[in-house]
Amino acid sequence: MNIEMKEVDAAVVLPIRQKVLREGKPIEMCKMPGDELSSSIHLGLFYENKLAGIATLMVDAHPDFPDLSQLRLRGMAVLPEFQKKQLGKLLIEEAINISQKKHADILWFNARETAIGFYEKFDFSVKGNGFLIEDVGNHFLMYKEL
Ligand SMILES: CC(C)(COP(=O)(O)OP(=O)(O)OC[C@H]1O[C@@H](n2cnc3c(N)ncnc32)[C@H](O)[C@@H]1OP(=O)(O)O)[C@@H](O)C(=O)NCCC(=O)NCCS
Repeated sequence: MNIEMKEVDAAVVLPIRQKVLREGKPIEMCKMPGDELSSSIHLGLFYENKLAGIATLMVDAHPDFPDLSQLRLRGMAVLPEFQKKQLGKLLIEEAINISQKKHADILWFNARETAIGFYEKFDFSVKGNGFLIEDVGNHFLMYKEL
């Protein structure tokens, strides 16, 4: 089994964002502000040379964490046919590693309610109440001190 994690260009992550996170929406809607910044890191996880999972790290400060150095995780997704093979684990662990190397105090993101249990396995905590993101569903702020 050949599994490889690589940094990829923003354009590379768009098809998986579209398929997994924005099903039925145009690819333009899968772009995120900051995608093209040099400080943004797009991770691609290749399973047998096929892109199977993605995650993006961005410099973005959440007002709930004043005075802390922060990175934000966005667009974390594994294609359905590759889920439950520990690929999500590899992606989140790499995101944590990179954040630690960059001396961030906190890694945070807005998690889909359905994924909270996944992130809790890696010691992320929920902060505050849920909120609705239109067309996507209920979300919760989650974070981990590094
Ligand atoms: C959430 C997601 C990234 C997890 O990726 P994955 O490759 O399926 O997860 P893994 O196989 O690495 O799972 C690692 C562990 O988390 C558990 N897990 C996976 N998804 C879970 C979920 N949604 N809720 C609770 N636990 C979950 C697995 O059972 C596994 O547990 P184990 O180590 O005890 O066996 C993936 O299912 C996905 O892309 N889902 C749809 C998009 C999404 O929700 N993205 C997150 C947006 S915030």
